[in-house]
Amino acid sequence: MKTIVILISGRGSNMEAIVRTCAAERWKARIAAVVSNRPDAAGLVFAQAHGIATAVVDHKAFAERDEFDAALADVVAGYAPDVVVLAGFMRILSPAFVKRFEGRLVNIHPSLLPAFTGLHTHQRAIAAGCKLTGATVHFVTTELDHGPIIAQAVEPVLPGDTEATLSARLLAREHVLYPLAVRWIVEDSLRVNDGIVTHLSGEPQLIL
Ligand code: GAR
Repeated sequence: MKTIVILISGRGSNMEAIVRTCAAERWKARIAAVVSNRPDAAGLVFAQAHGIATAVVDHKAFAERDEFDAALADVVAGYAPDVVVLAGFMRILSPAFVKRFEGRLVNIHPSLLPAFTGLHTHQRAIAAGCKLTGATVHFVTTELDHGPIIAQAVEPVLPGDTEATLSARLLAREHVLYPLAVRWIVEDSLRVNDGIVTHLSGEPQLIL
């Protein structure tokens, strides 16, 4: 039985998708805790309602980023996770945090990495005239929004799209993509070679 800890900062809809899929597909895994850096994160309510332990490490209570990261890492490590899932976790993590969980730390980013790292990805894709965008699940390394790509989902950018319309369509794809990627990790189906992630049985790592 694998242990999963999910980190959120807000709505937590990807966390919700992982919790629901874990139960529906009967993964050999349990969501041990949902941890937020914001006490008012809406996702905490869902987690509590589903009997999942929650914890808050409020970044505002720490003067230094490193102190926050160390406290967060200790809370996460307390659950002895096999997989640490960043699901809309909007703090940049220090190299010390990343190193502590490297190889079992994953993130979802709303662009086709390596394009559009950072914030406002949809706005930037629309402004650049992109006809296609997407989401990426990747292993986290010390370089922001980089790291071996586990899977990607694509979404066309339609004429007249706004950040709101595009992000809403993509979010529905994220809710399929992220549980799939986390399941592969739980099943130990992925291998990383020279920064390239492959699925042992050749499952398609692209959702069209
Ligand atoms: C998701 O769209 C996720 O891809 C994005 O934040 C949203 C969180 O939504 N993540 C990032 O931008 C990370 N840099 P959720 O809280 O409803 O899962």
